Amino acid sequence: MDINKLKILFDENQIQERIKEIGNELNKLYGEEEVIAVCVLKGAVMFAADLVKHLKMPLKLEFIRLSSYNGGTSTSGKVNAVNIALPDLNEKNVLIIEDIVDTGLTAKFLLDFINCNFHTKSTKFCSLLDKKVTRLTDVDPDYYGFEVDDKFLIGYGLDYDGFYRNLKYIGYIDKSDLE
Ligand code: IMP
Ligand code: MG
Repeated sequence: MDINKLKILFDENQIQERIKEIGNELNKLYGEEEVIAVCVLKGAVMFAADLVKHLKMPLKLEFIRLSSYNGGTSTSGKVNAVNIALPDLNEKNVLIIEDIVDTGLTAKFLLDFINCNFHTKSTKFCSLLDKKVTRLTDVDPDYYGFEVDDKFLIGYGLDYDGFYRNLKYIGYIDKSDLE
């Protein structure tokens, strides 16, 4: 893939400004209540790290690892729980932090898992990006940063074959330019 063919969709400033706004909304929602934030690796690592810095309530940060892509540019349709070790979430405010909701299969898998195993005080789903047009489930994030079109996005946690997660911005590449 030629990185020069990447078209920037959201630059560093836009991303950080929007994250600050989401942080303010979450501060209003939770007030002084304790929160357990669950970052879905690997894609959400950048977003989670930047978002939690804005949160003022007592907060624990947990990490789980799910995967649905096989290194390509579309979901395999099957979610794989690589590591889903979580603490006791009973009677806790759970905030799931994701990079992007695409088909919604990952979100649904995780929400079903939490609902089956715990009786939380509240469960909220926060995703930086929402690709509404490709949804195959009835799951929508409670909070999201930006709505995006059906493009393959790269950067700020989102990868192409494992690369480009470290970019400070989010861009897309035309599928014809993906080699
Ligand atoms: P879903 O299960 O189809 O909603 O997809 C969720 C996961 O697929 C996300 O957490 C991402 O890790 C990955 N994903 C979806 N769309 C993109 C994209 O455009 N670029 C990179 N990864 C993506
Ligand atoms: Mg993800």
